[in-house]
Amino acid sequence: RRRVRTHHLREYKQRGEPWPMLTSYDTYTARIFDQAGIPVLLVGDSAANNVYGYESSLPITVEEMLPLVRAVVGAVEHALVVVDLPFGSYQASPEEAVHTAVRFMKAGAHAVKLEGGARYAAHVDALVAAGIPVMGHIGFTPQSEHGLGGYRVQARGDRAEELLADARALQDAGAFAVVLEMVSAAAAKRVTAELAIPTVGIGAGPDCDGQVLVWTDMAGLNTGHTARFVKRYAELGDILARAADSFATEVRDGKFPAPEHSFD
Ligand code: KIV
Ligand code: NA
Repeated sequence: RRRVRTHHLREYKQRGEPWPMLTSYDTYTARIFDQAGIPVLLVGDSAANNVYGYESSLPITVEEMLPLVRAVVGAVEHALVVVDLPFGSYQASPEEAVHTAVRFMKAGAHAVKLEGGARYAAHVDALVAAGIPVMGHIGFTPQSEHGLGGYRVQARGDRAEELLADARALQDAGAFAVVLEMVSAAAAKRVTAELAIPTVGIGAGPDCDGQVLVWTDMAGLNTGHTARFVKRYAELGDILARAADSFATEVRDGKFPAPEHSFD
């Protein structure tokens, strides 16, 4: 297999082949997902919750994300590695967006993602002019949680027009794909049909070109509330808890280490 490039994703769309995308923040998951044939890995700002334990994605900084980017990039052979521009690192101006994205590209990223529609078209345009591929992200955008009034499904009913206009603005600015998060399935279907670039859904129904999940959600590592749009494909949290418990029990019982784990 070859290295995945942005034009391959457009080819999947033209052939009507749905494709998977997962987040990754470290070397082990990056290698495993790459070898499993996941074509796109996202070093998401969801690392805020999943690596650093913050309550939202807002606090994470470029400095906190750079080491994760290096780890993921260093572990993949085929996957396209997309990196989120974190909150506060690009909104102020297209120049700020280019400055931040260049730092991630120098760390080995293949593309960046930013949140926002038509109002960020100039940012996307500046990034593309700098040779940096951009993935858009519209619908529910977690960095704007407080502006949007909480976690709410977007683009229901006649609000679908607005979503379509935002998606078109991103496409016209040169974005290679666009994430649709927590939008009505009907709106996502319409945007997917009308765009030439691929859509990637998360809580956006079955008709998007690609589907993305946060890896800790899909592998069952998180605890507490699981969003409706998440499917848990494993219960890794339970598996790890059992491993830790077995280790602890064997140490306490004097069963580990055994002779075969020891040196003469
Ligand atoms: O940060 C993230 O994990 C994301 C995906 C949910 C698309 O932006
Ligand atoms: Na994100």
